[in-house]
Amino acid sequence: MKTTLIASLLSTAAAFAPQPASRASTAVSETKADLEVIAAKANPIIKFYDPLNLSGAEFWGTSNEATIGFLREAEIKHGRVAMFAFVGYIVHANGITFPWAMQMDGTPFPKVSNAPEAWDQISDSAKLQIFAFIGFLEYWREANSGQHYMSGGKPGYFPPFDAKIIPGGALNLYDPFGLNKNMSEETKEKRLIAEINNGRAAMLGIFGFISAGKVEGSVPALSGIIPHYDGDPMAPMSESILPHFGTLN
Ligand SMILES: *[C@@H]1O[C@H](CO)[C@@H](O)[C@H](O)[C@H]1NC(C)=O
Ligand SMILES: *[C@@H]1O[C@H](CO)[C@@H](O)[C@H](O)[C@H]1NC(C)=O
Repeated sequence: MKTTLIASLLSTAAAFAPQPASRASTAVSETKADLEVIAAKANPIIKFYDPLNLSGAEFWGTSNEATIGFLREAEIKHGRVAMFAFVGYIVHANGITFPWAMQMDGTPFPKVSNAPEAWDQISDSAKLQIFAFIGFLEYWREANSGQHYMSGGKPGYFPPFDAKIIPGGALNLYDPFGLNKNMSEETKEKRLIAEINNGRAAMLGIFGFISAGKVEGSVPALSGIIPHYDGDPMAPMSESILPHFGTLN
């Protein structure tokens, strides 16, 4: 049951994705050859490594280029989320919270020394708000992409919020300080490669933290640093929302 619920949460997110829009003539879709070039720049030692042959796949009956666009977007997005998670874990592990109350009723932010426990202590309504916000970001990215990343659009692009959404001004999460505008293509490309690498490192890092907390000694470098976590990191709703579906379990 848990697995089914988590799977349905994930598929809600995925439902926005496969829209094989007709390809505009200006589209520059990426191919396996492009991936090989990126891979060599991102990691000159390992270079191109694709044991599952995902770069040859055609998801949901779309083209291979569309699939590569989807996977590039997914990697960049997961990398960004992992960078947030990595920093967030360290912040929580050190007991750092915002100085105000977490909820309107005055409930403070959980003070824990074990980061995943902070999540378990958050109320269901707060968790649902977090999911709703993530859902909104997903929707905004999918609905305002211009050229979608599965039809030659830029993977990792995030459309700015205009004055319709944020009264009085625009907010561009993708380029908040307008630094990209005058950047040379060369510099931009270097930074994109750096972002992929930082994201990959962060994905390994956060899973290192989680593994070390769950299975003692599984990450020797973190032994004695990461406290043990009793919950189930792979069932993030098991402490709160899922028990309400107890009879279905
Ligand atoms: C990868 O998939 C493509 C497309 O299905 C296929 O043509 C190719 O032979 C596969 N490569 C390997 C190494 O399996
Ligand atoms: C970018 O360059 C243009 C023209 O050279 C200049 O007018 C503008 O102020 C620059 N923008 C930024 C953010 O540096």
